[in-house]
Amino acid sequence: MKRVFSMMLACAAIVCFCAVAAMAAQAPADGLKMAKTSKNVVFNHSAHKASDCKECHHTWDGAGAIKKCSDAGCHDVLDKADKSVKSYYQSMHNKKAKLSTCVSCHTDAAAKLDKEAGKKLKSCAKSVCHP
Ligand code: HEC
Ligand code: HEC
Repeated sequence: MKRVFSMMLACAAIVCFCAVAAMAAQAPADGLKMAKTSKNVVFNHSAHKASDCKECHHTWDGAGAIKKCSDAGCHDVLDKADKSVKSYYQSMHNKKAKLSTCVSCHTDAAAKLDKEAGKKLKSCAKSVCHP
């Protein structure tokens, strides 16, 4: 009897662990407002399903909490003149960064679209990011 009970307990623990792991890997609902942009920028995870989470959340270990771009120690320099890897602005706009930024990926993706759609994806004003 005692053994059956501890088996049940172990099973319950495994189920709980899996549920928490699955929850941690859940992308937020669409309409997410980017945390620190000077103008409103809305990000929809549903439009980016083709990319691996780690393409953008590149410090994520695949299990723990997912950080915001601007979290302390990450891209936490909000001065737009800063050109370092810590720059929040550069983390979205740098076209030559080693890792994907919004603009570098949109520029590549735009090349595969028709002219109008491509322009909307990669441009600044009147773009998908800054309508
Ligand atoms: C194309 C880039 C991109 C991809 C791919 C992506 N995300 Fe995100 N995610 C973002 C951005 C941008 C934010 C908003 C961060 C901010 O405001 O600083 C965000 C925010 C989040 C947040 C909220 C973090 C917080 O503290 O508010 C979670 C959780 C998250 N994403 C999970 C996921 C998961 C899980 C996947 C894969 C299924 C995924 N994301 C794929 C770009 C992406
Ligand atoms: C790894 C590639 C990649 C990265 C990085 C990326 N995007 Fe995108 N994004 C795409 C592609 C591809 C589309 C077009 C999807 C479609 O139309 O089916 C898109 C579409 C969009 C759209 C329009 C579609 C919608 O419903 O929202 C917005 C807005 C957008 N991206 C914002 C952002 C922002 C803001 C960032 C940076 C925080 C970002 N993206 C980073 C690939 C990327």
